Amino acid sequence: MKILMVGGGGREHALIRKLLESEKVEKVYCAPGNGGISCDAQCFSVGATDIDGMVSLAKELKVDCVFVAPDDPLAAGMVDAMEKEGIRAFGPRANAAIIESSKVFSKNLMKKYSIPTAGYEVFENSKDALSYIKEQNKYPVVIKADGLALGKGVIIAQNEAEAEDAVHTIMDDKKFGASGNKVVIEEFITGPEVSVLAFTDGKCVKPMVSSMDHKRAYDGDKGPNTGGMGTISPNPYYTPEIADRCMKEIFLPTIEAMNKEGRTFKGCLYFGLMLTADGPKVIEYNARFGDPETQVVLPRLKTPLCDIVDAVIDEKLSDLDIQWSDEACACVVMASGGYPGSYPKGIEIKGLDSKGQVEGACVFHAGTALEDGVFKTAGGRVLGVTALGTDLKEALKKAYAAVEKITFEGAHYRTDIGNK
Ligand code: AMP
Ligand code: GLY
Repeated sequence: MKILMVGGGGREHALIRKLLESEKVEKVYCAPGNGGISCDAQCFSVGATDIDGMVSLAKELKVDCVFVAPDDPLAAGMVDAMEKEGIRAFGPRANAAIIESSKVFSKNLMKKYSIPTAGYEVFENSKDALSYIKEQNKYPVVIKADGLALGKGVIIAQNEAEAEDAVHTIMDDKKFGASGNKVVIEEFITGPEVSVLAFTDGKCVKPMVSSMDHKRAYDGDKGPNTGGMGTISPNPYYTPEIADRCMKEIFLPTIEAMNKEGRTFKGCLYFGLMLTADGPKVIEYNARFGDPETQVVLPRLKTPLCDIVDAVIDEKLSDLDIQWSDEACACVVMASGGYPGSYPKGIEIKGLDSKGQVEGACVFHAGTALEDGVFKTAGGRVLGVTALGTDLKEALKKAYAAVEKITFEGAHYRTDIGNK
């Protein structure tokens, strides 16, 4: 099997490494990839959202399958475009990827099919949104841009002034462009958060092992939201009882709802859950593998990933018995100074071997470039330093020991991943 991976972050690096474990996989290519990925897969400088460019590349390389990992190309119909050319592709079509790319769509879907989620209203202009917020007078209140916003389109406003600011920023200043044409104003709910990624072929759903993201930039869940500063798997809050309940109340109803809407979802569906006092509720759906959840979930996968990819595309997932290891896994993200705000690039990373690795861990590269044999920073999240262990404590110890060996100017990482 020859596979083309679309994307260029830590998630894609983890997917590529897992695919390469199978003897059936002859070659993995990646576009655009990054410095670390180029040690494992030949990279091509085609942008992840360049649909025509990616179709041409897939044809040129004569790949057996294209794996579309990021949200933007999925929402823009890259899978549809591949299929139109007779190329097998892993990921949902655009009409199903909307479950992530429009929060208005996903909230209305949940309401229509009684899938538990936080209460909400949708608004198409800032005036109506603000008068609703003032009328409710309940804080904190959650304000969400409808469309994709690099994980930054959710604002939790603590008071009226912050809410006003958020609504204006999203709807009037258009900080996230057309993604802010509509907003969802949502009830603030509380409880531990769980990420569950699931394979689905539209007929059956097979949840992967659970994980926990750490979205805030600094220790103690302080500071601004990021794309994710670290992850652990399994998530200690996700008991078998809760998993059963999620299957019945959330996972199966979601797959069925998408089918009923004529939007069959095939690929990896990500359930962002909150375990509230009233039971598990959906915070968000993603139409793809999570980043950095993938980095801790996939190392635990024992079944060849290429077999699952085929089974999903061929709608034969129910035939497959997917096996997981009992080990725990931890990932600590090392980020550029300034991230999630602006940050410098091109800073030399010290402590990595020629393959971009360190002993005792697996280093997934998120934002690196390889220039004349030297790894340099090239993004906000730079590395996902990951380790397996017999339990969470051991996995964390190994991951942090590896982090200690890596340095670059301005590097910051959380020291409390997995402490909760
Ligand atoms: P999202 O990008 O939708 O996952 O939201 C980012 C983060 O905001 C989530 O991981 C939660 O921590 C938080 N959040 C989102 N919606 C709510 C809500 N209704 N109540 C409380 N926290 C929320
Ligand atoms: N880690 C959350 C996400 O991938 O959106």
